[in-house]
Amino acid sequence: MSNNTFYISTPIYYVNGSPHIGTAYTTIAADVASRYKRMMGYDVHFLTGLDEHGQKVASTAAEHNMSAIEWCDSQVQNFVELWDKLNISNDDFIRTTQDRHIKGVQQLMQKIYDNGYLYKDTYEGYYCTPCETYFAQDELIDGKCPDCGRDVEFIKEENWFFKLSEFATPLLEYYESNPDFICPKSRYNEVLSFVKGGMHDLSASRSTFDWGVPLPFDESHVAYVWVDALINYITALGYGSDDESALENYWPADYHLVGKDIIRFHCVIWPAMLLAAGLPLPKHVSAHGFLMAADGSKMSKSKGNALYPNELIDIYGVDGYRYYFMSDVVFGNDANIGLERMTQVYNSDLANTYGNLFSRVSNMTVSYFDGFVPDLSKCDSAIIQNLDCPMKSIADGIFEKYTKALDVLDFCGASTAVMELLHEANLYIENSAPWNLAKDESKKDELAYVIYNGLETCRIAATYFYPFMPDTSVELLSRLSIGIDFENLESGQLKDLTTWGGLKAGLEVTKGAALFDRIKNK
Ligand code: MSP
Repeated sequence: MSNNTFYISTPIYYVNGSPHIGTAYTTIAADVASRYKRMMGYDVHFLTGLDEHGQKVASTAAEHNMSAIEWCDSQVQNFVELWDKLNISNDDFIRTTQDRHIKGVQQLMQKIYDNGYLYKDTYEGYYCTPCETYFAQDELIDGKCPDCGRDVEFIKEENWFFKLSEFATPLLEYYESNPDFICPKSRYNEVLSFVKGGMHDLSASRSTFDWGVPLPFDESHVAYVWVDALINYITALGYGSDDESALENYWPADYHLVGKDIIRFHCVIWPAMLLAAGLPLPKHVSAHGFLMAADGSKMSKSKGNALYPNELIDIYGVDGYRYYFMSDVVFGNDANIGLERMTQVYNSDLANTYGNLFSRVSNMTVSYFDGFVPDLSKCDSAIIQNLDCPMKSIADGIFEKYTKALDVLDFCGASTAVMELLHEANLYIENSAPWNLAKDESKKDELAYVIYNGLETCRIAATYFYPFMPDTSVELLSRLSIGIDFENLESGQLKDLTTWGGLKAGLEVTKGAALFDRIKNK
């Protein structure tokens, strides 16, 4: 088993709706973390997929006059296409209707049953179908679902119950000895008080419809959709199959990324199920906040204030889209999303800073140095030694800031560290005015120095920005005649690649279309 592995997952998304900016957000975050870890030499396994069972999917299918599986099959493409478009580099895509998943769920449920943690009883209480969640009467708010505010239904049915209440102590012990298990800290406290508040056993099966995984020891029941769904994190690794090598290699997961609304499922129910089956628990569950409309209200189709990924990609491009959500939305906090702010960040960071710097220095390389990286070793060292380049010390400090931030999923912290370098370089170009130096033959060496530093800044920034904006980085570097196999770097290589002065003299530099077109105010 290699200890250089990194296993990260997104929630598996319900197929009754289309992907939206919330699900795209988690998926992009997992992608940036995965690309970063691959750059650090890790053997990464990045999983996403779809949650296809349950009452909600079954009724949505019926509304469309389709069988449940026909409905699911018809929805898969919406997700796969958007993830492709957004450059998501997942290693696997699981659907809970796949055989590999069904077999694994049955095996885990059998194990929990054999270990004595399941018993049959009658459930009497409320159920929110859109949330697929059980509620007791005193949890309802004005008779409605406390999470989504919609109608709940009263159900009375025979269920298999999971002895969740028996796991309060072991869970609390796990949280205490692994204080980073639940991030951010505010969520940790929320989960802690929930568990300390006393937990009821959980209905782990349904017996009034059949769109789910039949329990192996009682085929008249299907697994409760959340129980079924959570198990995807191990069935995708081959749990319950003839080949469990991926499970041995990657489990326990390094990070389950989730939205804050589903933290209890991941931090309470899922670890309790794993404990009941005698399996190791995930290392971290990291919860992000909710994306709201610009005015702070909930986005919804009916209110007409929803923003859709495809429309945003049309405006900002794939990399502009990825960059915005990773640089301006703090992972863990709620955020109001609006075009005005998105355009402001795009224009200021990407068009006016990053794109503008590269466009200036690549154009000047072509104009003043025939399109080749100037060779400073051929310049008069007495002149060069007396010149100062403020970007060098900033660049030297990025690696530590960037890795520290990304290791704890602080995407904004990492992107800010890179952006600082670009801001400084723009100022430097402005102050050095190479267009004036070019007019004076005696300033030729100083000109070479300034242009080299500008190009070097672009090379380093593009390397660091690869996880955030993969296409732009590859494009910019290719215009510097540099090709890096980012997905297969070895441990230690990123540091070498981003060391100041690594840009080789004589490389051909080509100019091309603007990396980011400026967007007019909406
Ligand atoms: N199928 C379950 C997850 C099972 S994981 C074993 C599910 N699916 S979902 O499609 O309804 O939601 C998926 C994710 O989208 C959740 O993490 C949820 O927090 C997130 N979001 C839904 N709306 C959101 C926003 N407006 N903003 C950010 N994320 C939000 O739950």
